[in-house]
Amino acid sequence: MKIAIASDHGGFAHKEEIREYIKTLGHEVEDMGCYSTDSVNYPDYAFPLCEKVANGEFDRGILVCGTGIGMSICANKVKGIRCALCGDVLSAKLTREHNNTNVLAMGGRIIGIETAKEITRVWLETEFTGGRHQKRIDMITNYENK
Ligand code: RB5
Repeated sequence: MKIAIASDHGGFAHKEEIREYIKTLGHEVEDMGCYSTDSVNYPDYAFPLCEKVANGEFDRGILVCGTGIGMSICANKVKGIRCALCGDVLSAKLTREHNNTNVLAMGGRIIGIETAKEITRVWLETEFTGGRHQKRIDMITNYENK
């Protein structure tokens, strides 16, 4: 898959490691910043990434900030984005199966890097179940299109 990844300063260290990890899983990954630990504003990174996922330039997106909360709030304001903030592996699996999430948010100050990598791997590998869950996704899409 084509994956875009971005962070603010609070997620920078995790983003650097997750980017390299994603490559070892066989995916193409584009780093959309930030590029240092200098203080930046997470909306400047969340919105451009999510627009590129929403318009199909990337299959999925991964966002990391200090808590993951700011990034996930921004992401879920972009039409076509379903973002899950995950701090555990089961949520990562279930949000792919049930919510067909196309963006994953994580908190660099909340979870360790090994947990973040495992969440990333499981989230990338888990397929959407469809079925009864598709109806619920359609309800979200219908609301967005009102
Ligand atoms: C930045 O200090 C911090 O507020 C940000 O990384 C994130 O946690 C916001 O939700």
